[in-house]
Amino acid sequence: MRPTIIDTRSENQPELQNLAVLKFGGSVLADAQAVHGAAHEIYRYLRAGEKVLAVVSALAGETDELIALGNDIGGGDNAPGASALLRLGEIRAAALLGLALERIGIDARAVDPSEIDLRASGKSDDARLCGLDHMRLATLLTRHEVLVVPGFSGVLEDGQPALLGRGGTDLSAIYLGASLGAKRVRLIKDVDGLYVRDPKTGTNPRRFAQINWEDARKFCGPSIQPRALDYAQKHNLSLEIAAPARGFDTCISADGVTSHAKARTRRLKVVLLGFGTVGEGVYAHLQRHPDLFEISGILVRDAAKERANGAPAQLISTDASDVFATRPDIVVEMIGGVEAADAFILNAFFGGADVVSANKAVMAANYDSLHKAAARAGRTLRYSAAVGGGVPMLEALDQACEASNVCSLLGVINGTANFILDRLANGCAFETAVREAQDAGFAEADPSADLDGDDAAAKLCLMARHGFGATLRANQISMESLSDLDPARIEAARNDGKIIRQISEIRRDAKGALCASVSLKTLAKDHYLAGAKGERNRLVINTDGGESICLRGKGAGRWPTAEAVMADILDIHRLRGQYEENVTVRAPEIACA
Ligand code: NAP
Ligand code: HSE
Repeated sequence: MRPTIIDTRSENQPELQNLAVLKFGGSVLADAQAVHGAAHEIYRYLRAGEKVLAVVSALAGETDELIALGNDIGGGDNAPGASALLRLGEIRAAALLGLALERIGIDARAVDPSEIDLRASGKSDDARLCGLDHMRLATLLTRHEVLVVPGFSGVLEDGQPALLGRGGTDLSAIYLGASLGAKRVRLIKDVDGLYVRDPKTGTNPRRFAQINWEDARKFCGPSIQPRALDYAQKHNLSLEIAAPARGFDTCISADGVTSHAKARTRRLKVVLLGFGTVGEGVYAHLQRHPDLFEISGILVRDAAKERANGAPAQLISTDASDVFATRPDIVVEMIGGVEAADAFILNAFFGGADVVSANKAVMAANYDSLHKAAARAGRTLRYSAAVGGGVPMLEALDQACEASNVCSLLGVINGTANFILDRLANGCAFETAVREAQDAGFAEADPSADLDGDDAAAKLCLMARHGFGATLRANQISMESLSDLDPARIEAARNDGKIIRQISEIRRDAKGALCASVSLKTLAKDHYLAGAKGERNRLVINTDGGESICLRGKGAGRWPTAEAVMADILDIHRLRGQYEENVTVRAPEIACA
């Protein structure tokens, strides 16, 4: 029995606050690897505290290939069965994006239109959307961080798929955004907004910063499906038209003042300090954005080491003065340790560069001096990856502080210790488990930092700054080492159906002072923190307002960590590498522009 379809949100359906609907067009999904760029965009909104529903087109050229294939097999133009074939491109893109998100530890779920009864009416090759199992979709959204919906198709009354016409993924995104009361619907394309003329003509036309519906219809041509635009206007849903990684967009809305502005981006020079687990991942990401970044140098310790990822030899140096001589805009510190990292970061500020670091040891040890140096130099210092790997823990603490006071936090915040504890619980020998964590790229250069609790303690120091606005020193944190864990305790936990976790905690005592610890706790298997498997992390932030904010994801490893580093780099690009000239021009001037 098919569920009753509902066209709009009704009173008793779950409220979805802070939902961003991001639509990725075929022009930005140029090839299969481009899904990693879409993942950057999704991560950007997730770490700002928004839920994401991604709606995807097929990868560039795939729909044409499917059309050709269908024609080859036969059945005639517009055969009813053709829609079953032509929707496969979007389904494939959704699955690929789901995999890219899984790689960085995001709980993403691809959702077929039939699963949410995304109902279509009309012809099977040119249908409209007319209904949706809103409750099912809302439930999926509360269970997963991200949903990925293939655009371009819906389901007819008889259960057969129907296509939404050319540009139909715009309609899918706008329809879902309107139905769910989304905070934003962002159509991400290969142009960074609406222009007075096609920007590819090379005449440097002006770009609209904001535009009303009538003017949008005049200027957007086929770049947004007209039917989708009508639907958005009818439901008073503002739209953002943007390119990936951009801080600016064109906003189409009912009362939009019709103005326009030029937008510019420039390539920023980036130096990588370190080319290990994290550095190689960041290199791979930057390589895919030659329009935004130029890698001008890579510092390593051992020039003779074989580099699997094949960074160009001319970029690699063991001499810091070589890489700093390239006058970078951004220095990304991924070498670890305190002394050398500290000196390099200060040198970067001195040379006018912004800094992104993944290094919790240097950030925790020299937090004040590094922030002062950044402020003195007027530069930005970012270090999201230092805590939680790909889980945006520091950002969540910042957001929690804005809304309320954080009164305590506890979590699994060291991926290596967690991975090893899981392996030990499965009967693996201690040394083998440590070696496996090292081989997987989870462990610190000296894994005793993971085992003894120093790594988690450094992270707690940073969390104390962001969550409590307080200074916490590593020597104020009590620690229990994994090396001292009695195998009998593991055995006992196993026999009781329990699990041991390295738990890091900060709370205030009766006098309001911070108490912090890293300890080994035996937890029931259904405890939220016991659910963190392998290198995964989990965190619970409790606020004075009685709210518990729960976060989870991959806390260590190349791709989750490189994602957080890349997010900081892209933020800096939006701060320094992009700007708009705010020239407000009135309607008659647009007509003759
Ligand atoms: P890694 O694999 O050991 O790589 C370190 C890189 O830094 C290597 O390329 C090494 O050069 C280079 N290096 C080390 N000391 C140097 C020095 N004094 N001068 C020049 N180059 C130096 O380490 P990683 O796992 O990528 O971790 C890097 C940082 O990210 C650490 O601060 C770590 O805490 C942090 N982090 C790591 C993860 C993770 O899961 N791995 C997660 C979050 C944060 P060679 O290649 O020549 O040896
Ligand atoms: N060694 C660290 C861990 C890396 O295992 O958690 C991530 O900070």
